[in-house]
Amino acid sequence: MLVFQTKNELKSYLNSIKSDAKKVGMVPTMGALHQGHASLVARAISENEITVVSIFVNPTQFNNQEDLLKYPQTFEKDSELLELLSKDIIIFAPSVGEMYSTEVTSKKYDFQGLDKVMEGAFREGHFDGVGTIVESLLLTVAPDKAYFGEKDFQQLQIIKKLVALQNIPVEIIGCPILREPNGLAMSSRNERLNRELRREAGFIYETLKTISTKFADQSIESIMEWATAQFQAHPQLRLEYLQISDEETLNPIGSKKENKKYRAFIAVFADGVRLIDNIALN
Ligand code: PAF
Repeated sequence: MLVFQTKNELKSYLNSIKSDAKKVGMVPTMGALHQGHASLVARAISENEITVVSIFVNPTQFNNQEDLLKYPQTFEKDSELLELLSKDIIIFAPSVGEMYSTEVTSKKYDFQGLDKVMEGAFREGHFDGVGTIVESLLLTVAPDKAYFGEKDFQQLQIIKKLVALQNIPVEIIGCPILREPNGLAMSSRNERLNRELRREAGFIYETLKTISTKFADQSIESIMEWATAQFQAHPQLRLEYLQISDEETLNPIGSKKENKKYRAFIAVFADGVRLIDNIALN
């Protein structure tokens, strides 16, 4: 597998192998890869002749320094997982200096409100950080398609908005959430949960599934009350937010309308580890 650390070396290598007949797929990651990432990479491999996986822990999207410091860096293990998928994967693993030169700061974007709710409301500046790095990675690699997981559904919608706003010619593809056997959405953060909490965290998806059943015939207000009470009664999980939103605008809804798609979004703390998840409701 080839590993590049600088934008220029990666660009000139890609220019030397790209052609109209060879499509490039990209999977941007922050490393600590798990089977959820593997599913994105497998899809990129199946739909493109060239697959680039970036591994970069992006400091500007962390609003909490402790979270950044604790973020697992497992490059050797990540390369082994990728190698099992294909020896032809190209890894881009730049340093912070390479991506940001002297100023480690974000650009400011107008994501037209998509960044004002949920993750954006609880993690100030997070989506400007995501936008800054994803824009830079997409401009460096110039892929035909880029793959992102639906676990970060808000991020996915914001990246779609980003490429439209910045006129970046790439197709953004959302891929389904992969789950552990108890339903917990796969995430690099799950590694920080002890065995008991990892088991208990299956409660998050159980609750989301019940919300989706209730959505058919109960009011938003009663669903919210029920779900909030479930978490209040749970000794180990603390609800940060639960929101039922229009999938397109991400704004919370008070009632349902015809021809709209809705999703429930949740963020929960399990002993200081922040877990997010979501489920389509119709
Ligand atoms: O989803 C992630 O892992 C990150 O937010 C991303 C898209 C790689 C940007 O750093």
